[in-house]
Amino acid sequence: MSRLSRAVSRTIVWILISVIVTAVVVGSATYLLTQRALVPGVAPATPPAMPTKITFYTWWAGLERFAIDALIGNFTSKHGISVEKTAVPGGAGVNAKFAIIALIMAGKPPAAFQVHCGPEMISYFLASPNKEKDFVELTNVAKEIDLINTPPAQACLLSGRLYTIPVNLHRANLIFMNKQVLDKYGINPPTTLDDLVRACSTLKAHGVPCMVQAGADLFTVLHLWEQIFLAVGGPNKFIQFMYGTLSPTDDSLRRATDIFLTLSDTFPGNWLALDWTSAVDTLIKRGGAFHVDGDWAVGLIYNVYPDVKMCTIDNITPDCNIIIAPFPGTQGVYNMVIDAVAVPVGPESSAGVLFAKFFASKDGQRIFNPLKGSIADYPDIEETIYPTVGQRWEVKEYRESKYQVFSLTHGALFSDVWQKLLSGAVLLAQTKNTDLWYSTLSDAIKSEYDLWSGSGYFMGSMEKPFAGYLPPWAKKS
Ligand code: GAL
Repeated sequence: MSRLSRAVSRTIVWILISVIVTAVVVGSATYLLTQRALVPGVAPATPPAMPTKITFYTWWAGLERFAIDALIGNFTSKHGISVEKTAVPGGAGVNAKFAIIALIMAGKPPAAFQVHCGPEMISYFLASPNKEKDFVELTNVAKEIDLINTPPAQACLLSGRLYTIPVNLHRANLIFMNKQVLDKYGINPPTTLDDLVRACSTLKAHGVPCMVQAGADLFTVLHLWEQIFLAVGGPNKFIQFMYGTLSPTDDSLRRATDIFLTLSDTFPGNWLALDWTSAVDTLIKRGGAFHVDGDWAVGLIYNVYPDVKMCTIDNITPDCNIIIAPFPGTQGVYNMVIDAVAVPVGPESSAGVLFAKFFASKDGQRIFNPLKGSIADYPDIEETIYPTVGQRWEVKEYRESKYQVFSLTHGALFSDVWQKLLSGAVLLAQTKNTDLWYSTLSDAIKSEYDLWSGSGYFMGSMEKPFAGYLPPWAKKS
């Protein structure tokens, strides 16, 4: 063999060796990497694929389903992910909130769930092993969809961070009046608490129910007490109640309770069997004069009673059936109920965030709000999208409101405190036992203080605290 051919075969041998060594190294590495991905408890290098189906927990069931169904339908067509709506019935989340807490405590949270802005979210933190770390912080998502600087989103911040992304703005301090009943008894729409009490005593004398509130799903009873307290105590005391910094002996609590007792004496005989939707039905059918509730009642009337004509207090038309007005004595205040979405950390988080982002976006809010009875959080969404005069009036009322507060019945209380007040108010209307009610109120205020100060949170941000009020513990955080 020539020297040249010996050199060539040596090169070939080296090339072969290098190829074999490379193959062995690459092969083993690939093997090890794929095996690692299969080892239980060791996360694969690539993120999990988007699920094709997620669960959203909500209480928008039955007659409240229209807006959420439209939203989900649009989300599924856009993103190809179907959303199983687990609707736990019971207005204001009287059952759903505790079902969600139970799932969280069991370590099986849904991909996303309905929640109100307010300390209600902190109750979910408290139920979770790693507290707020178990929930996706949504501040950046709200930035991406230009929501973060809207006033409702700013109000929803918990010490500067968003864990509940808002999808709408409801108003709680409303009274719905049956115009035909008022006309029949010669009553003008009340604008003060005195007017309302007088109207109810006239109706009572005629044996006609005045306030149509509902005991079966509890919440409209506390809701009524809350509006009376707002009218009597004003927005500042109202916010102090939320934070538990109000004195439990404050006179406004007693004055509100006295008026509540007078009005609760005019509920219809079957009030304990009614839920909020049947209370609205009773009002429409002239079974009473007034119903105090949020503007989800506007959504209900729009979706379910197309022949019922609504009008607002500033423009009462002759053909109007249901007049919508601020609760007497709360004009200029917007008692906010902000529905929002929260996303637990977990294998379905990215799909949950995608859903929350779509829901809270301009597109999502344009689909959801017209059917819901609420208004959108984005101030630049034109009011022509709303099908009812009530919503178009609310846009203006919100813009012109002097004070905004969070509704105690809908998000502004920790869930355990809320639960006690809900049943306490129903018990008060039933038994008139004021001693029990005052001790429930005083426990509620103390618990609110303890829970807020223990958490260190406050509504809004350091630069812009909600309603300009920084609670004493805010400096800690
Ligand atoms: C509120 C909720 C509204 C509406 C209402 C009646 O708490 O924020 O969106 O659902 O309860 O269920």
